[in-house]
Amino acid sequence: MTSNKRKFSLLLSAIVLAVAISASGFSNELSAQTTPLNSFKPGEIWPDDNGVHINAHGGGFLYHDGKYYWFGEHKGERSNAAFVGVTCYSSVDLYNWKYEGVALAVSDDPESPIVRGCVIERPKVIYNEKTGKFVMYFHLELRGQGYTAAHSGRAVSDNVTGPYTFLGAGRVNAGVWPANLPEAGRTATITPADVRSGTPAWRAAIANGLYIRRDFEGGQMARDQTVFVDDDGKAYHIYASEENYTLHIAELTDDYLNYTGKYIFVAPGGHNEAPAIFKKDGTYFMITSGCTGWEPNAARLLTAPDIWGPWTLHPNPCVGEGADLTFHSQGTFILPVQGKKDAFIFMADRWRPRNPIDGRYVWLPIFFENGLPVLKWFDEWDLSIFDKTDTL
Ligand code: DGJ
Repeated sequence: MTSNKRKFSLLLSAIVLAVAISASGFSNELSAQTTPLNSFKPGEIWPDDNGVHINAHGGGFLYHDGKYYWFGEHKGERSNAAFVGVTCYSSVDLYNWKYEGVALAVSDDPESPIVRGCVIERPKVIYNEKTGKFVMYFHLELRGQGYTAAHSGRAVSDNVTGPYTFLGAGRVNAGVWPANLPEAGRTATITPADVRSGTPAWRAAIANGLYIRRDFEGGQMARDQTVFVDDDGKAYHIYASEENYTLHIAELTDDYLNYTGKYIFVAPGGHNEAPAIFKKDGTYFMITSGCTGWEPNAARLLTAPDIWGPWTLHPNPCVGEGADLTFHSQGTFILPVQGKKDAFIFMADRWRPRNPIDGRYVWLPIFFENGLPVLKWFDEWDLSIFDKTDTL
């Protein structure tokens, strides 16, 4: 065979092989056919309009002008670091999602806090009625610094799908005391080095501002996070602070772009991550997780009659098999379903740290028993579940 013929024959074989592989569906286990979906299948591959598994982990959801938008962490196959940014998908029915592209892109500028290779987690977008702007909050860890930065990142856009402009990132509420920390907690001199962690004394010290004092000047840590807009238009940033030991709820300015300086700490020493919140009949419900890295643990439930508390801890809202591990997932958002009364979806991630792109989504309907949310597993369900009365 002449060299040209050999090249041609090799090329032909390669093409035949590629076609055969792709026809067999072997090429990418994360892609599937695009047939319209009409149910949720928690934990399974969820194809977008291109037949590709949705890549929007730690998601945040926004309903705007008749459409739902899903913002999430783009993940690759090996690392949890951000090499693309925050992705956006849209849907009118919550089952079928159209890929809208990258809403917030990582930067190529090595000086930028969101340089490619940083960690961007749990993005959430809210819409400001007064300014007409979409505001994104996310957890940012600086490139190469593990999880030590614990920064809150902000970005803004005139369009829901983006592109979002990065506004800045940093610790939160520097030089400001939380409204619920008594004077004694502001002036105490005990430091984390003085108490053995896990002891009752340590827990009491946390409730008395142990870490808040430590981080007072530089600002409070902000890791797992969500943003909540109340009925009166006021918005709140809720995040795991104080080395993940304590949650903070911080009020945002009227334009949602900054903090007013009013904040409280919640469940001191409770080790809560993954806050997701909703409001029903005047009560605030927050479902969180414990702190076990990427491994699932039992969800927690907190309620309050007012965003500023008092917050009361209740037993795990999950029931049935898998309840002690939140059905092998960790919450990220609670979405009120449009057009249905008291219909809320608990949205969670089933992380796959060894192949993050293959992380799965676990969405479950929230039921109420004695006024408290209850979560149970369904292999498959659809929105008509909210119209039934006998599902518990
Ligand atoms: C659990 C958090 O909920 C995730 O968002 C992520 O930060 C992992 N920990 C990292 O271990």
